[in-house]
Amino acid sequence: MKYYIETYGCQMNVSDSELIISILNDAGYEQASDIDTADILLFNTCSVREHAEQRVLGRISNERHRKKSKPELKIALLGCMAQRIGERLISEDLGIDYAVGVDQYRALPHLLEQAQGSLLKFNSYENYEHLLPVHQGENCAFVTIMRGCDNYCSYCIVPYVRGRERSRPYEDILLDVRAAVARNMMDVTLLGQNVNSYHWKDLSFPALLVRLQEDVPELYRLRFVTSHPKDLSDELVQVMGKGGKLCEHIHLPMQSGSNESLKRMNRSYSYEQYLNRVKALRKAVPGIGITTDLIAGFPGETQEQFEATLSAMREIEFDYAFCFKYSEREGTAAAQYPDQLPEAIRLSRLQKMIDLQREITLRKFRAKIGKEVEVYVEGFSKKSKSQVSGKTRDFKIAVLTGDESKIGTLVKVKVSQATAGTLICE
Ligand code: SAH
Ligand code: SF4
Ligand code: F3S
Repeated sequence: MKYYIETYGCQMNVSDSELIISILNDAGYEQASDIDTADILLFNTCSVREHAEQRVLGRISNERHRKKSKPELKIALLGCMAQRIGERLISEDLGIDYAVGVDQYRALPHLLEQAQGSLLKFNSYENYEHLLPVHQGENCAFVTIMRGCDNYCSYCIVPYVRGRERSRPYEDILLDVRAAVARNMMDVTLLGQNVNSYHWKDLSFPALLVRLQEDVPELYRLRFVTSHPKDLSDELVQVMGKGGKLCEHIHLPMQSGSNESLKRMNRSYSYEQYLNRVKALRKAVPGIGITTDLIAGFPGETQEQFEATLSAMREIEFDYAFCFKYSEREGTAAAQYPDQLPEAIRLSRLQKMIDLQREITLRKFRAKIGKEVEVYVEGFSKKSKSQVSGKTRDFKIAVLTGDESKIGTLVKVKVSQATAGTLICE
């Protein structure tokens, strides 16, 4: 039996798909290289915003016609959206045969032996111990170090679809990182919804970073996402300051620059505390790239509160910001808040945020002109086969002239031009 897997959402899902591939391969299934030859279509889904769910449903409705010429073809919905509304979707006539939640992947092969069904129970002890995912990347590896989230930010569905927070045993993380390094993957990213609250036995997150660098001397670049500002300890800042394999980059979602909004978002920090962490990081790690997530049009956000976010953006000058329009998620606290803002306001605030960040990113990227950067070449550039692209240590996309032989190598190059998102190098 051949399966085809498509992944939506964040890196956690990318990593989970690698786990699912490992589970299915062990059970004797074979990964199909293209959708036409598959007997089972797996969609690993995301629920974080309405749009993410609509996209997957659109994809499934486009692919279900295949069942006409191949009646034995099965469609399975996996991941966060399956967890949230899988039961309901199976009962509707959408062509979905199975729904499997995030803690039930071990039982997936067994379920696929049945004609249809769902597995949606949470199991807050499920860490997929002793299972080694099959890394799908060529050059960059993602290694899950924790699952779930206990933070309950008021807008966010993740705690409801991913369950309680739990940390993966160090031994498994070590095996996973070693497997990636053995395949010459030089850029390894540790993953979790809230990596800096990692805790396994008496191993804290900063201690994990130190230990991994000691235990895997061949490791070249080490990164992690996502960090929560409230758990960004001085100890972590100190470990980052030591450099070593750790890249000079942090993704630190701010969400809003207004203390009132942050409070209603249940983020448990103030703007001043956030700024304090940014300053500490910049002092300890000169040249650190700081990226963030921001939400526009959160319920009850006044014009003044929105402007507080814009001025925070100007004050901090993020290297890049992922800006999102607030999306109401059923069952979350914020969905019950009064003053849900009209779509037009959410959209226009989002656009203002994007425009401002574009200016800042352009300025920050231009400041790199004339400087030497180290690029880990990951593939051809999107635009041309005579150019290759990769990332700098501080998480900027860089493009340079080169052919296939450069892919998978590290190059030191000089930045000659910059756009709001790409460094063009020589
Ligand atoms: N655990 C990570 C990532 C969570 S999801 C973190 O804490 O940062 C990634 C981003 O999606 C969030 O940082 C937030 O900016 C955005 N997001 C989450 N829920 C959202 C919602 N309901 N509407 C709009 N954006 C949302
Ligand atoms: Fe969602 Fe907040 Fe958890 Fe991130 S920390 S996954 S935003 S609840
Ligand atoms: Fe989406 Fe689930 Fe990630 S909701 S953002 S795929 S944890």
